[in-house]
Amino acid sequence: MEAKKRIGILTGGGDCPGLNAVIRAVVKAATIRGWESIGLRGGFEGLLNPAQTMELDYKKLGHLLVSGGTILGTTNKGRFSAKTGQGEVHRIPVAILDEAKANFQKLGLSALVCVGGDGSLTIAQQLFENGIPVVGVPKTIDNDLEATVITFGFDSAVHCATDALDRLHTTAESHNRVMVLEVMGRHAGWIAISAGISGGGDIILIPEIPFHYKSICGKIMDREKMGRRFTIVVAAEGAKPAGGSLVTQGGGLDREVRLGGIGAQVAEQIEKKTGKETRVCVLGHLQRGGGPTSFDRLLCTRFGARAVELISEGKFGHMVALRPPDTVSVPITQAIGRLRRVPVDGDLVQTGKSLGICFGDWPEGDWP
Ligand code: F6P
Repeated sequence: MEAKKRIGILTGGGDCPGLNAVIRAVVKAATIRGWESIGLRGGFEGLLNPAQTMELDYKKLGHLLVSGGTILGTTNKGRFSAKTGQGEVHRIPVAILDEAKANFQKLGLSALVCVGGDGSLTIAQQLFENGIPVVGVPKTIDNDLEATVITFGFDSAVHCATDALDRLHTTAESHNRVMVLEVMGRHAGWIAISAGISGGGDIILIPEIPFHYKSICGKIMDREKMGRRFTIVVAAEGAKPAGGSLVTQGGGLDREVRLGGIGAQVAEQIEKKTGKETRVCVLGHLQRGGGPTSFDRLLCTRFGARAVELISEGKFGHMVALRPPDTVSVPITQAIGRLRRVPVDGDLVQTGKSLGICFGDWPEGDWP
């Protein structure tokens, strides 16, 4: 018989579909072992004075498998911000780490499950190095974490973006317009390329491939010549023209810079250069809202259950990961510090190219 434990769980960084499904799986698997679980509210901030906790009695919690958001709340800024830019990691002040550890001990916890992406897992690693037994669960719609084949939330975001593309197709075709859909993903193009291919996009712009307007406009005019008088463009928020810079919405000292606005720039340039009527749609936080797809529900449930097993095995400083067909554990250090981006010579880009999808990457051409 295993010794009774009391475990804490928190959700950090931007929210995404499936956070509640992970909480449910952790609480359920812990309850079955006879352990107690408590939630920390508002991300890592919940560990600071006064500690903010929430009772997690499985019998009193309903609909967590299907509901969006996180019942624990979260934040992607504040005193625990360990990342302020692409690859820029700073050490969290020792006083903050010590305060968190003191509260962890006061609450009588024996382990902490940290559910988060690159930024939150970077914080989790620092807590671990400061003596808190931590286990990680990889979350992010951006799918940009190393060491796992997929993060939860990504499939739900792709589903949302694909649905948007299906809708944009019908209106683009009715009006013979160019439609630009801007999607999230930060410095990785996973959402753009996955939804772009699934949703039949004609042009896909990803951060990994700097683009040329000549190439984009050439593709639109080629389609025009073939009698295809509408075009669907998918632009990742982190895409940028060759030699150009990222389009941002500002940032702050305690948070990463906010990306956004490239879709409008692309639409403006297309209209100016081709004369084609062009509209832009920014999908924004719709990609993060709502409940998880069935794929994500399953993944979250597997991740949550595995996280509890890691605690039981004493595998702290580790994160659960998907290495099909299994969930495995990897040191958190393997998942952070380097973003996983779309390989430009990989299968997804190749699939797109085989279908004639334009990635904006050839600067030459006979247009205009
Ligand atoms: O990391 C998830 C993400 O949704 C990114 O795709 C996006 O750039 C960012 O978070 C948006 O953050 P916020 O919710 O602060 O606007």
